Amino acid sequence: MGKVNVLDVAEMKARGEKIPMITAYDFTSAQLADRAGIPLLLVGDSLGMVVLGYDSTIPVTMEDMLHHAKAVARGAKQSMIVVDMPFMSYQVDEQQAMTNAARLMQEGGAHAVKLEGGVKIAPTVARIVEAGIPVMGHIGLTPQSVHALGGYRVQGRQQEQAAQLVKDAEALQQAGAFAVVLEVVPSQLARLITQRLKIPTIGIGAGPECDGQVQVLHDMLGLFTDFVPKHVKRYADLGEVVQASFAQYAQDVKEGSFPTKEHSFSMDESILENLANPQ
Ligand code: KIV
Repeated sequence: MGKVNVLDVAEMKARGEKIPMITAYDFTSAQLADRAGIPLLLVGDSLGMVVLGYDSTIPVTMEDMLHHAKAVARGAKQSMIVVDMPFMSYQVDEQQAMTNAARLMQEGGAHAVKLEGGVKIAPTVARIVEAGIPVMGHIGLTPQSVHALGGYRVQGRQQEQAAQLVKDAEALQQAGAFAVVLEVVPSQLARLITQRLKIPTIGIGAGPECDGQVQVLHDMLGLFTDFVPKHVKRYADLGEVVQASFAQYAQDVKEGSFPTKEHSFSMDESILENLANPQ
């Protein structure tokens, strides 16, 4: 099978086949997700929080995204790689957005870019798409605007907000986006948008009726537990497993039960004797 591309993703929606996507930030996670048959990998700017330890995605830079995208590109053989455009790498003007989208493709190995925003960002999306770069939109709870939104809260519960989200989704489709992420919006609104759009919706905290779902790897594996959003499904408690393994390792080293012969290398004893008694 060849690499997953935008046509495959469109066909999945047409066939009614759900589209799984997860974040990946390095070679190993990309390799594992790719081997598990996940069609879409997102090098999300959530790496700012779960990998780099920031308290939001706002400090993430283009250099951060490129660094991680390159590692993911080395690990993924079949999956399509979508890379987030970080805060203020596309909002200044279209020229800036084009230059940075091109860098993510040329230097980072991205197959598509994702940017946050609806109607207001649609002209920029159209320009990037015209240049041959596939774009995934992202509306609803857009973490790069967390301060403007007044926190991480459900979006689109009120009439006006809901109507705006529908317009945003339609504007992104019109601009040529190949898919759109709906983050933390009521399930009923996500269903309506999903039915209205020809392009796939990828939900996170947007209910079961989106065309696909995306989860943050560290959340679903229990590696990041400082804050666990309601929409996370925990598939493993790797954080506990890893911490217990580290503690056991420390104890083994301290008490001398690691390493043993099994983990060590040996050499010809005569060489040692020559070293001890030089001629
Ligand atoms: O950065 C990210 O991981 C994302 C997903 C939450 C959609 O944008």
